Amino acid sequence: MKKFFALVLALCMALSLVACGGSSSSDTTTEDTTGDVSTADSVEDAEASIAEDSTASDGELITVGFAQVGHESDWRTASTQSCQDVFTEENGYELVFVDCDNDSATQLEAVRGFIQQEVDYIIIDPIVSTGWDTVLTECEDAGIPVIVIDRTIDDSDKYAAWVGSNFTTEGLAAGEWLNAYTEAKGIEITGILVIEGTTGASATLGRTEGFQQIADAYGWTILDSQDGDFTQDGGQEVMESYCKSYEGQFNVVICQNDNEAFGAMTAMTNAGVSYGVDGDVILISFDACTAGLEYVQAGDINADFECNPLAAPFVAEVIEQLEAGETPETEVYMEEHWFTYDDTVSTFTVDGEEQTVTVVTDEVVEAQY
Ligand code: AHR
Repeated sequence: MKKFFALVLALCMALSLVACGGSSSSDTTTEDTTGDVSTADSVEDAEASIAEDSTASDGELITVGFAQVGHESDWRTASTQSCQDVFTEENGYELVFVDCDNDSATQLEAVRGFIQQEVDYIIIDPIVSTGWDTVLTECEDAGIPVIVIDRTIDDSDKYAAWVGSNFTTEGLAAGEWLNAYTEAKGIEITGILVIEGTTGASATLGRTEGFQQIADAYGWTILDSQDGDFTQDGGQEVMESYCKSYEGQFNVVICQNDNEAFGAMTAMTNAGVSYGVDGDVILISFDACTAGLEYVQAGDINADFECNPLAAPFVAEVIEQLEAGETPETEVYMEEHWFTYDDTVSTFTVDGEEQTVTVVTDEVVEAQY
């Protein structure tokens, strides 16, 4: 079976991957090796097809090694759960899961471990976007197809497909929404503080770049931008220091994920700084997991830009295509939405494309992960 996969993988590589991150759409779209972009199945459709289509052609379970980033956030928990729900024995899979605890060396070791175990497929959510070519060459030499999820790999194209989010679009959307919101409310932006995600992660790079583009376009001042490592503790620590260093100088805080926002809220409360729809500071977050949306509904977070963690059904589709000897789409973009407390801004544009806003209600919170 390995030789067959090696052939399929070599074919996919030869057709060359299109660099990730080029779509400006917030819909789930796919791009094939000819460069065509199309709308992917819904999560429900993808999930429905898994049980019917999987199990290896020889009837054995398909073994999948998954080198997960860690357990730093609510988003990460939802991503892990998505994989554990899809890659089950019932669906024809055996999942070998490694939590890499946000450590790049551990992640490389995990991938090499999967090669030694001769798994059929390797899924990687890369902690950082560089340093991958050597180990991906080892996967290729072993004839094991690699599927990258969520974050991108920027220094190697030796993988069969990538399924994830357009982080730059998320950053652009946050910026354009902020512009429309402050205009509608007559608020002048005095100073912006950014709490970034993990340094070197493509989620951090994309959101930072996208938001910076808008800040430059509108002439906003970003007073500081520091690493909060996508954790609640990290967000709180950075915000505590911001409250001391920039007292009275800022009225916008951008947290690059929900957990950082939770930490930043604690720090601002402790420092006597009010935030949210009735406060002095506009608080923006990314991810839009359940707890994040609850804070949006309560008015503590003004807007939350979704990063969809439910990639696993689409990864299973890629595996099914490889099993069938087909060439999978090289890029699959997850469908994502922008959530706010109210409809002060109901639409805005990103790169000329109209974006709609979802006001958070009980039903919206219940439907989220
Ligand atoms: O790579 C996705 C990011 O990583 C999510 O925004 C964050 O919550 C996670 O830790």
